[in-house]
Amino acid sequence: MSPWTSAVGAPQLARLLQSQHTREATALAGGRRRPAYRALADGVRLLVLEGRVPVAARLPAERELAAALEVSRTTVAAAYEALRGEGFLESRRGAGSWTAVPAGRPVPARGLDPLPPEATGSMIDLGCASLPAPEPWLSQAVAGAMEELPPYARTHGDYPAGLPGLRQALADRYTERGVPTMPEQIMVTTGGMGAVAATCRLFVRPGERAAVESPSYANVLQLMREAGVRLVPVAMTPRLGGWDLPAWRQVLRDAAPRMAYVIADYHNPTGALASDEQRRELVDAARSAGTILVADETMAEIRMDTPGEPAAPVPRPVSAYDPAGSTVVTVGSASKSFWAGLRIGWVRAAPDIIRSLVAARAYVDLGTPVLEQLAVTWLLNTGGWDAAMELRRDQARENRDALVEAVRRHLPDWEFTVPGGGLTLWVRTGGLSGSRIAEAAERLGVRVPSGPRFGVDGAFEGFVRLPFTVAGAVAEQAATRLADAARLVATGAGAGADLPRSYVA
Ligand SMILES: Cc1ncc(COP(=O)(O)O)c(C=O)c1O
Repeated sequence: MSPWTSAVGAPQLARLLQSQHTREATALAGGRRRPAYRALADGVRLLVLEGRVPVAARLPAERELAAALEVSRTTVAAAYEALRGEGFLESRRGAGSWTAVPAGRPVPARGLDPLPPEATGSMIDLGCASLPAPEPWLSQAVAGAMEELPPYARTHGDYPAGLPGLRQALADRYTERGVPTMPEQIMVTTGGMGAVAATCRLFVRPGERAAVESPSYANVLQLMREAGVRLVPVAMTPRLGGWDLPAWRQVLRDAAPRMAYVIADYHNPTGALASDEQRRELVDAARSAGTILVADETMAEIRMDTPGEPAAPVPRPVSAYDPAGSTVVTVGSASKSFWAGLRIGWVRAAPDIIRSLVAARAYVDLGTPVLEQLAVTWLLNTGGWDAAMELRRDQARENRDALVEAVRRHLPDWEFTVPGGGLTLWVRTGGLSGSRIAEAAERLGVRVPSGPRFGVDGAFEGFVRLPFTVAGAVAEQAATRLADAARLVATGAGAGADLPRSYVA
């Protein structure tokens, strides 16, 4: 049996490595330029640590990589030798070389993996853009659900489309938002991720294309990659300008993707909010191209109006431009508005799409837990949802303002545009590699996802994403540690394994 499970071609590896070239690639470490073989070994190590090159992936032969990178074969051989010595590469005569992680080190996740709650004492986790439950509403919702449970307990408990009461409550909410909706247009899923996964399975086959915003939500990009979908990135406009409509029209016309996945409302990671005009134009373009437009509304309710100022107008839902739901498939979730631990999401689409999604569910997860569905139904029907939303928004605003202030003070050359909602700040790291900052920061006790996780093929090396999940002293400490990490990277000291570990408990 071969010791590797996938392969990375020389051109692909060269592209990934070249995307890392930012200011500090030429930084002097202790007055000396890093030798070429060391820079190459560090680059490959970083790709493995970030999960961008999987573990057990066969690397190209030395000669091929040397040609693709236009360096000598000796350089590649020395880099491979260094990686073998550090435990990041294994080789066997006749089988080639494949990536590895040193013994005792966890295998890197390719998506965004939250830290286990017990690890948060020693590490500030900026990996996950979700807030703790807005109590007392979670406890009250669970108590309300327990009261509603007995009649359901006397049934088999299988509701592949979701509980009728929750489908009705979610449909009513769309109707209130100006998009008339029937319960037959709703399927309850296991989180927004479950909704996106089900939609992808239904609409895109391996090898087919899906257009995505560039950058986009890392876990959905990874979900699509693992499904064998060919991603077609479409750039976002700078400074929260939303979608670049001419670029979208061209991609939809020329690439004719089966599906397009967009986050119109407080986009993750940039925080952009698409305007009504952009929504209408994108739906029209998708309809003309025969492309299913998946609109992820997971962040939609996290609006942050400035207290004392009039609230900014809220754009109409993307589904308002295709209420029947045959072009626009909407994904929703309770995770950001309420609590990710409930794992409740949903799809809104035309009834025949919902029927196909429900039928396909028999081979996946069969349904969503009843008690959690009852808890969300209770929240929606009693006004608890809206009351909890107020707490959520206040907390998110407080966190955003604290983080923005701390980053401005400790990292004055990092650039960002402050969004009016959502849970993420998309930060340009002053010409330094976001991957190297993420690696150095983890050793200094703060975990932060680097830009390339949100891009296709190594884009966004000069970015990190910071979530609005910490405030006060923790936000201050996070910014201090990030500034320390940036200094290490800027001086070249972040490249090696010789970082101070004293911060990590
Ligand atoms: C845009 C977007 N979609 C989906 C999700 C995942 O949602 P859920 O926890 O409901 O699966 C997230 C979480 O960060 C997100 O930001």
